[in-house]
Amino acid sequence: MSVNVIAIDGPAASGKSTAARELAAAIPGAVCINTGSMYRAVAWKAMRDGMDPAHPDRDRLNRLLETIRMRFVSTPEGCELEVDGERPGNALRTPEVSAGASAIATIPEVRRKLVELQRAMAAEQMIVMEGRDIGTVVFPDAKYKFFLTASPEVRARRRLLQDGGNPDPAEVARVAAEIAARDKTDSTRADSPLRRAEDAVLIDNSTFSREETIQRMLERIQRKMTVMPYRVPYADTDQMGVVYYANYLVYFERFRNELLRDAGYTYRRLEEDGIAMPVIEAVCSYKASAKYDDLLEITGRFAEAKGVKVKIECEVRREGKILVEGYTVHACMDLKSGRPTRPPEFIRELLLKP
Ligand code: DC
Repeated sequence: MSVNVIAIDGPAASGKSTAARELAAAIPGAVCINTGSMYRAVAWKAMRDGMDPAHPDRDRLNRLLETIRMRFVSTPEGCELEVDGERPGNALRTPEVSAGASAIATIPEVRRKLVELQRAMAAEQMIVMEGRDIGTVVFPDAKYKFFLTASPEVRARRRLLQDGGNPDPAEVARVAAEIAARDKTDSTRADSPLRRAEDAVLIDNSTFSREETIQRMLERIQRKMTVMPYRVPYADTDQMGVVYYANYLVYFERFRNELLRDAGYTYRRLEEDGIAMPVIEAVCSYKASAKYDDLLEITGRFAEAKGVKVKIECEVRREGKILVEGYTVHACMDLKSGRPTRPPEFIRELLLKP
């Protein structure tokens, strides 16, 4: 089952944080998590304790990792990291901490600890998580993956403007060299190096505005996402006043109709084309219940096509929170011969596009 994560990876200053913040704002119930700030926080704490982030004393570092607590707090600008009850804010953004974060991020114990914290954050909500290894290591099963990049000069210029610096050629060259050094450490380290996941959508935003980048990402997400709103009627509830468990399979079916329609098809047309897709497996996992008059959002996608089988995933949410998730597996059948057949071309094509 793919996890409810939009993973954004890419080199330094490629626009990941802005994209994550704005995508989370555009998707109901989504929150954004900037994993770079977590590595920065470890470097910041280690440096404050007198350690050299490139060669820290391992026992002291391990003690720090054992007790460190991190959580993201929502702010009007997005979200801010709280470390052991403190909010370091801009103290995490100094050039010393940037270089320290890149160095300390090569240490496997640090990565193990932060990956564990990051996975625990993706429990119930849709998460937009950005970093270097989100689509490859933290959430290889993320539902949507992006790899953002831009030319070194564009990235240096953006970083300078963001920090209130003067983008004259000498300054741009200096910051570009700093960024290049960090990219090198990040992409050549042995543990979880920065690289694009094979199934990540590559966006080089050198010539795009911020809005254009977000627009492209949203288009990719929506192309994969059909959303069906559904208001629960009395008829769907049981004596406990909640939606009867078996009804969710009916919701899944209604949703599949919409999914096909979104792809430019209908089930009727498939049958006219001589193909049926009977269900051969249905899985449903219940996390919370829905009640009469709740407005549900049912979403999902074609997840896999293997041999003659097609897997369709489905989620039922209320205000962003997942109530039920599951999938059905269908065997494609030639109606004339009654024999198994390959999935229709359009489904295979949809699955080939990231
Ligand atoms: O995204 P950023 O520039 O704030 O990240 C700071 C450093 O943290 C970066 O140079 C490498 C490291 N990092 C990492 O190794 N893995 C991540 N998922 C995020 C950041």
